[in-house]
Amino acid sequence: ETSSIWAPFIAQICSAPNVGKVDEIRNRAQFIARSCKEVRDVHGQSDNGLYSLTTATGVVYQTFCDMTTAGGGWTLVASVHEDNIYGEVHSWTSQKTFGTVEAATDDDFKNPGYYDIVAEDMSVWHVPNNTPVSHWNLVAIMRYHTERRFLHLYGGNLYYLFHRYPVEYNVGKHLSDNGPSIPIVYDLGDKESTKMFYGPNTRGETEGGFISFRAINHERAATAICSGVKPKDGNSETYCIGGGGFFTEGNPLQCGDFTSFAWNGYGTHIGWSASKQMLESAVLLFYR
Ligand code: G3P
Ligand code: CA
Repeated sequence: ETSSIWAPFIAQICSAPNVGKVDEIRNRAQFIARSCKEVRDVHGQSDNGLYSLTTATGVVYQTFCDMTTAGGGWTLVASVHEDNIYGEVHSWTSQKTFGTVEAATDDDFKNPGYYDIVAEDMSVWHVPNNTPVSHWNLVAIMRYHTERRFLHLYGGNLYYLFHRYPVEYNVGKHLSDNGPSIPIVYDLGDKESTKMFYGPNTRGETEGGFISFRAINHERAATAICSGVKPKDGNSETYCIGGGGFFTEGNPLQCGDFTSFAWNGYGTHIGWSASKQMLESAVLLFYR
């Protein structure tokens, strides 16, 4: 009879990942590091996975470290996810945090690293929605990183970059007042495959091989990030994400984080509409 009380717990222990792994994870929780780069450089860790980080003011949080891409040391700081084209928008200039690392492909995610880490480069993964952490790398549809240490010029992270280039309505004119476009190095995909994920009509007004910030459209609305491309005209809401403000053209077609990715129908990949693959993947943002 007593054994039956313990049966569920024994079952749980027996189905736990494995004991060695649990010890390893317990060890990881003891590191005091401000970024995955420090976890790599100071604590000699080289496995991808979840680690605890500590901010300058002592906030402890858990996030995913990519320890393999181009030498590793990349900290996941945010994800932008669209589950409803009429959904919410991101807050790029606040210290507000939300979501959990394990659900970073299921919902928007932003952790203290976003504003706390002083970084040089970014890496971006497009990962299909609702993918478990262990499979992100395997099923990603596009991955790339920057190598020019561009964040030095903008305060060391996106929190400061977007203070300089607010994602707000009516802050300037398309192209002339856009934020920076930084060349990228592909880890999965290339310039052409990037452009193919977006709508056919966007291909003539984008250049592949860049990550661009604070793009302004014809109607003076702003988006935060154009992933994989540089805008060459002002319909940027059809291929850039993280909308700010108020999109005057064709409401309610211009709402949500992936503002007009469904302009010509949801996932149709005709006209201005992005492919379903792109629309239904979260954009994971890393710093190093
Ligand atoms: O931003 C997309 C929108 O301006 C497209 O306009 O006339 O090609 O449907 P249209
Ligand atoms: Ca337009």
